[in-house]
Amino acid sequence: MSFDEIIDRHGTHSSKWDMMEPLFGVPRDGGLAMWVADMDFRPPACVGKAVQDMVDHGIYGYFGDESKYRAAIQWWMETRHGWQVDPDGIFTTHGLVNGTAMCIDAFTAPGDGIVLFTPVYHAFARVIHAAGRRVVECELALDNGRYGLDFDRWEKQLDGSETMLLLCSPHNPGGRVWTRQELEQVADFARRHDLILVSDEIHHDLVFPGHRHTPMALIDGIADRLVMMTATTKTFNIAGSHSGNVIISDPTLRARFAARMAALGLSANSFGLFMATAAYSPEGAAWVDDLITYLDGNRQLFDAGIKAIPGLSSMPLESTYLSWVDFSGTGMDRAEFSDRVAKRARIATNAGPSFGKGGESFLRFNIATPRSRVEEAVARLTEAFGDLQ
Ligand SMILES: Cc1ncc(COP(=O)(O)O)c(C=O)c1O
Repeated sequence: MSFDEIIDRHGTHSSKWDMMEPLFGVPRDGGLAMWVADMDFRPPACVGKAVQDMVDHGIYGYFGDESKYRAAIQWWMETRHGWQVDPDGIFTTHGLVNGTAMCIDAFTAPGDGIVLFTPVYHAFARVIHAAGRRVVECELALDNGRYGLDFDRWEKQLDGSETMLLLCSPHNPGGRVWTRQELEQVADFARRHDLILVSDEIHHDLVFPGHRHTPMALIDGIADRLVMMTATTKTFNIAGSHSGNVIISDPTLRARFAARMAALGLSANSFGLFMATAAYSPEGAAWVDDLITYLDGNRQLFDAGIKAIPGLSSMPLESTYLSWVDFSGTGMDRAEFSDRVAKRARIATNAGPSFGKGGESFLRFNIATPRSRVEEAVARLTEAFGDLQ
């Protein structure tokens, strides 16, 4: 397949394309949807075939025997990430927002503080608030245009009422791949403050050349308080299957999580299981390698275009296809730069403040789309901010 192919997603119940006009006023005709984190590419053929096989068989009954599915997860984590997973520690949730909510439910109590390194994926704060817990925003340091960890500042912020840290690794937005040393520091921080550490690694497969993701599970001395979260959905663009994995090695945490899953009557949907089993395969791996090469080209093109516009700068992406663009250099207020992007450039993006403290002057652009659209976006932004030349 070619990632260059433009596939019309209008009228397919695509959140990204069909909700762009009602939510942002960006016109259906001619607007560019660069917000929701899914890609405008078909997944590898092996995933489509798994669904086609279901359709061909034509009976959609209850799923039994997860051994192949669990073996596929084990194979992927071992071959792609050097991480050995115990199949008995794998839970399948209704995606990772649900996985996050389940962790909050299983491991914290109403009123507890939950630490986020902000700006960070907006659904974290949403589920924390909805569950009656408190968001403790620890703002990332901006160091030479990149995010860094700021433990000296955060030490003073915590007051002992916090029970969990939700880490996004690699980081969305900003695209940092935390180094092993940084992850060790995060683990120390979690231990020092007696926090359960939930590591959301949904973006772990989409890492650009020159960077290496380290699963938190490979960091020493953290297993007794660690919950790992992974999924096929970002990697293979199958977010609609709403399937994710919460992986726990500690027996006590595992038992607590299993008890909540049972109490809520949760079990996986068969589409997600068939698709994930097909995706975590050599064919899926080869497709991901090609995808990264393509996204790398998009990222270079987009960054070069943004750099050429006075006042705009994009954070260097080490991972993810979500470019984090800072408009502070334009001297415009939020309303003005957001308006120019939505109305003049006709591009739907994610608003920075939705990611928490530190996001005020940013918009997030999804560049996982055919290259011609990235070129078009750059041309429109150049025009929309042309008076700054
Ligand atoms: C860090 C992170 N976690 C979770 C999700 C969404 O997970 P799901 O679709 O499995 O609920 C996203 C989507 O962008 C994300 O960026």
